[in-house]
Amino acid sequence: MPRPILATVSTPALRANVQQLRQHAPDAKLWAVVKANAYGHGIERAYPGLTGADGFALLDLGEAQRVRDLGWRGPILLLEGVFEPRDLEPCSRLGLWHVVHHDAQIDMLAAHKTKQPHRVFLKLNSGMNRLGFAAARYRAAWTRLNALPQVDEISLMTHFSDADGARGIAHQMQVFDACTRDLPGERSLCNSAATLRHAQAPAVRADWVRPGIAVYGSAPDFAQHDAVHWGLQPVLSLRSQLIAVQHLQPGDSVGYGSSFVASQAMRIGIVACGYADGYPRHCGTGTPVLVDGARSRLVGRVSMDMLSVDLTGLPQANLGSEVTLWGASSAGAVLPIDEVAQAAGTVAYELMCALAQRVPVQCL
Ligand SMILES: Cc1ncc(COP(=O)(O)O)c(C=O)c1O
Repeated sequence: MPRPILATVSTPALRANVQQLRQHAPDAKLWAVVKANAYGHGIERAYPGLTGADGFALLDLGEAQRVRDLGWRGPILLLEGVFEPRDLEPCSRLGLWHVVHHDAQIDMLAAHKTKQPHRVFLKLNSGMNRLGFAAARYRAAWTRLNALPQVDEISLMTHFSDADGARGIAHQMQVFDACTRDLPGERSLCNSAATLRHAQAPAVRADWVRPGIAVYGSAPDFAQHDAVHWGLQPVLSLRSQLIAVQHLQPGDSVGYGSSFVASQAMRIGIVACGYADGYPRHCGTGTPVLVDGARSRLVGRVSMDMLSVDLTGLPQANLGSEVTLWGASSAGAVLPIDEVAQAAGTVAYELMCALAQRVPVQCL
């Protein structure tokens, strides 16, 4: 009998989220960002829900090969471009488009022997200071690329640092506009937060948007807005069951470190889920959970294979009761992954990517 823990990946929710994102940028094509093994969901599992996208954006050649193996003949973009010269051969063979963000990548292209010219996305560092050509050097890079027989189309790209927050994108848009105003080529600017919050502004003309986290149903600007506000549906759900029930008396403690002490008689349930399953150990007492679809809370410390939940007010809850750690319960009640991430002091990206190998995953 396997441990009663299961993650599910919802294909209908992925499809619905892609459609929802399109409504915010109706004239743009949409890259589904599937780096990091589709944000932990598994590329193969996510793929059936993402075939309505116009392309897939990711980081490494192995993942690009997997998308091609799934039958995708459309665009695939390498978001960090190539890392060494020999990466260009699979780019040619698999027909990958790739970001160019520094001079060494142009040198590699110039030395690359290919019959098939490449499409590249020239990345501007408009203020995030992670990847991309500085504004003063962007045009020179474009001119160099434009002269290469190995390149047949140059698109223009940047990435926003504060699309989810108060600073916004205006300062970076200014830099991007100034650098690209009279350059031809398609433009790609917006991640999830920018797609949802800014893509409809006329100044943010985007031929391609690049949402990742919102595709998977998390609100990129939580807690200012939640997934319901953006019309996003949970894709990844993590569910387990109660495998024991304890009756505490006032003064009794729970779990390692006795960090939770009962102030009155109460029942608690022990859940077959711990940090070795990917549930964050940083979640403390009060983190929301659903027991049989009803909201309750975590009590005490999360251990490797178990955690404890408060069963006060849940007299029906007993051995075998379903516990939803995040996402949708089997009856459809929802606990947003963003709430659990916030309780752990992190973001939903990290929880998704940390789902452990040992958790069986079912596609819905
Ligand atoms: C260049 C680039 N574009 C798009 C994305 C997607 O971002 P998000 O998941 O916030 O939508 C990322 C993710 O980090 C990225 O690095």
